[in-house]
Amino acid sequence: MALTFRPLSPLFGARVDGLNPGDISAAEADALKAGLAQNKILSIPADGAGPDDFLAVARAFGELEPFFLSAYSLDTHPEIYVLSNVRKNGAPIGRDGAGFHWHSDHTFQERPCSATLLHGVTCPDEGGDTLFVDMVAAYRRLPEAMKRRLEGLKAIHKYQKKEFAFTAERDVDAATAAKIADLKRLRASEEAARPKSASAKASGASPAVAHPIVRTHPVTGEKALYLNEEMTVGIEGMSDDTARALLRDLAVHATPEDAIVRYKWRSGDIVIWDNASTMHSATYTDPAHDRVMHRLTIKGERPI
Ligand code: SIN
Repeated sequence: MALTFRPLSPLFGARVDGLNPGDISAAEADALKAGLAQNKILSIPADGAGPDDFLAVARAFGELEPFFLSAYSLDTHPEIYVLSNVRKNGAPIGRDGAGFHWHSDHTFQERPCSATLLHGVTCPDEGGDTLFVDMVAAYRRLPEAMKRRLEGLKAIHKYQKKEFAFTAERDVDAATAAKIADLKRLRASEEAARPKSASAKASGASPAVAHPIVRTHPVTGEKALYLNEEMTVGIEGMSDDTARALLRDLAVHATPEDAIVRYKWRSGDIVIWDNASTMHSATYTDPAHDRVMHRLTIKGERPI
């Protein structure tokens, strides 16, 4: 059966049907790569898929990137990084609380990953959605004068340990805010008790890199805004105050409510996003609901 792509939302994204993760042909892999470049996020319903299937789907998009924080690797498949709010015997089974900012992945690297895949192994009935925005559309919405101002500018990206925020949403009710405060305390004590891995230390020491604020997509040639609130700390040749204000304005410009695609997970879903043309953010999951996600990233090129 040929793969079919149909819109995931009125804005962007596509759902892919007809894929058998255990048997992906070269033609299907090409269709998936082209479909990702065109649609920016893909959702593949993959009920019953296991880690081997997830790895096979990821390899259709390119070469896997080894993740630099190995503390939460899956025991049986160390390439897979586990995100989870579940604790067993008092210890988290995966990383909890990361990714709660608008960002695209690994921008602090010289060659940030081209795509990220999440496999919803256990998805909560409520909460834990992933939010996406289209950074090509965000660029197009800019006034012409701002497009001219950004021409040739490079933003400075550096790894920041901005973890355990547990929400990027602006309107959080008091009861949820209290639960988030409890989670932050729990995560801080868990981190303090855990010996820091060599890879975590190395990531903290990674040097800053500069990437164009407006990047050209390697496949579509479209221009996209490329910055984020998490790892972008300045702009080359600009004073810190001016740069931070501009970066904040651009981040706000890119993420208005009416530009957001909210992905509601169903267990078994595999979602892939294009890091050159989107930003995403995790959202809060009440600890009463289990969330277990497997994550893989695909090697990318230096943004131009
Ligand atoms: C991420 O930012 O990579 C994780 C997103 C999520 O858990 O929803």
